[in-house]
Amino acid sequence: MAERFGVLLTGVGKRYDIVSAFGEHAFTIAADPNPLAPARYAADLHVTPPRIDDPDYIPFLERVAAEHDVRAVVPLTDLDIEVLAAAGERLPSFVPCAAVARATFDKYETHHLLLSHGLPSPPTVLPGEEPQSFPVMVKPRRGSGARSIHPAADRAEMEFFVGYVKEPVMVQRLMDGPEFSIDLLCDLDGRCLNAIPRTMIESRGGESIKGTVIHDEQLIELGRAVGEALGVRGPCTVQAFRDAEIGLGVTDVNTRFGGAFPAPMYAARPGRTYPELIVRMARGETIEPHVGDFAHRHTFTRYFWQLELDADLRPTGRDIVARGPRDPRRASAADA
Ligand SMILES: Nc1ncnc2c1ncn2[C@@H]1O[C@H](COP(=O)(O)OP(=O)(O)O)[C@@H](O)[C@H]1O
Ligand SMILES: [Mg+2]
Repeated sequence: MAERFGVLLTGVGKRYDIVSAFGEHAFTIAADPNPLAPARYAADLHVTPPRIDDPDYIPFLERVAAEHDVRAVVPLTDLDIEVLAAAGERLPSFVPCAAVARATFDKYETHHLLLSHGLPSPPTVLPGEEPQSFPVMVKPRRGSGARSIHPAADRAEMEFFVGYVKEPVMVQRLMDGPEFSIDLLCDLDGRCLNAIPRTMIESRGGESIKGTVIHDEQLIELGRAVGEALGVRGPCTVQAFRDAEIGLGVTDVNTRFGGAFPAPMYAARPGRTYPELIVRMARGETIEPHVGDFAHRHTFTRYFWQLELDADLRPTGRDIVARGPRDPRRASAADA
């Protein structure tokens, strides 16, 4: 068996699935300041870092990395991508360069970055500028989790929401077609290894909870092009709409694992799940690009599960049923 080294996952939050998947291939360390972040309990070791804006944040992670032979740092939220990028070689982070990290944290800058690479982005203006057409979406430049996003049918509604949302916003064409996400992975030279599109059947708070993996050549190529133009290093999720009038437009780029981690896990060929490829790259292996090679048509539908913590906030190991969730294949269907 290959040597086991450390993978440090930051801002793990609720992402029990991601931490568990890395645990199949490496010694996992979860860094999250919140003692109630459930995914810290999926890791082999959890640590409590200082706040991201604390000058000791990066030195703290460096000390953890040195102690546990960490060869990959993977942020699971948007919040520290830029500071990890700025720390450069000090940590083996799977993040893009600092300029791209900064630009993709601001959706208006992302819009111009995409256009500068000849990539499709819906018409977007700042408050005070005239939109090309209505309806529009008033959305925060630095939003996440679908927070404070408001459709506006006309100028009066637009002006109302621009004043109502208490943070910098932008005004974007309201895209009418179906929405998709493309989960892609790039190597440390910014080469796209795979790009796996899925439908967004239902989302809640920015997490996709139902969707189907599809082999749509146009979306695969869009994902690859965005990843390589931006020099993504590691995972990235590109969201796009297919509008009846203007065609594809990219509405969001997140240079981290997207809100439907299981989709590319199920779709990847054996040995080529994204966590496994990241661990292999961390080991120094070169991975051959295999863009478009994945299983498709399968649908995922997600649900909640939980941990019980005792009075000292230690996991009790108890569950509400004896052996965890029931085997779903036991269920039979009947039409009344
Ligand atoms: N231009 C748009 N047209 C239509 N719907 C949009 C548009 N922009 C965003 N949305 C909807 O709002 C959701 C959240 O917007 P998004 O840009 O992905 O921001 P974030 O995920 O960072 O909060 C999207 O998944 C999409 O359903
Ligand atoms: Mg989004």
